[in-house]
Amino acid sequence: MYWINGIQEATVSASDRSFNYGDGGFTTIKTIDGKPLFWSLHVERMQACLQLLQISQPDWKQVQAWVEQAAIEKGLGGVKLHVSRGSGGRGYSPAGVTESLVTISEFGYPAHYKEWQQQGVELGVAEHKLGINPLLAGHKHNNRLEQVLLKADIEQQGHLDGVVLDLNDHIVETTMANLFWVKGKTLYTPSMEKCGVSGVIRRLVIQDAQMLGMKVLFGEFEMGHLLTADEVFMCNSLLGIAPVVKITHKSYPVGIITRDFQESINSA
Ligand SMILES: Cc1ncc(COP(=O)(O)O)c(C=O)c1O
Repeated sequence: MYWINGIQEATVSASDRSFNYGDGGFTTIKTIDGKPLFWSLHVERMQACLQLLQISQPDWKQVQAWVEQAAIEKGLGGVKLHVSRGSGGRGYSPAGVTESLVTISEFGYPAHYKEWQQQGVELGVAEHKLGINPLLAGHKHNNRLEQVLLKADIEQQGHLDGVVLDLNDHIVETTMANLFWVKGKTLYTPSMEKCGVSGVIRRLVIQDAQMLGMKVLFGEFEMGHLLTADEVFMCNSLLGIAPVVKITHKSYPVGIITRDFQESINSA
């Protein structure tokens, strides 16, 4: 079901700028018993994205009420919150477009995620590379053609998901999640300064690790670094944290640090 600016409706105008140019931002939120999880972090990232794009901010209290109205009443579910700059402007020019459009949709919790969380996920490595784009890096904007191509690439290789590298062969994330790995007592994760989505769960993992006194290193890492990790995990808002048990031919055990993060974040 879809709601547009709070009204149950499933059609947007052909002049909508997100339809035409991907001009907007979105986020996907896990819901439990009708409540969105980590709402304030989703709002913060959306606000930063809209601010970068110079799109007017919706009334976030109102948006929260719409999200709660959309969320499945009982048990687990998901809500997608999508903001478009709205309709109008001339060509690419956004001048004069002031009324953003908020589209919300709900869906049931993906059935296979429980298995991914418990048994772990086997990843491939995408052949396509992510472009370097510091201007949009970290934001969950509505242009997702790279992820569409990457997902097709990974599926054609027979994998469910895969590690994604940038044009300089540095690890960025997977097609749908952020990546972490552990070596000794140190946690590693790629920097999101040149490309990639700076995830809500990534932020929580980093906060938790730093609170526990664990060293967290951000940077540009090549595959060789990841392949010698003791444990690897991936995370996004819907999945939470899931162990990565294989990357192409290299297997990893499900480690205790991964299980600890799962315990504190997945059960939140
Ligand atoms: C490409 C990509 N990277 C990372 C993430 C993780 O973001 P979040 O933790 O905010 O869900 C997502 C989420 O869908 C994603 O699509």
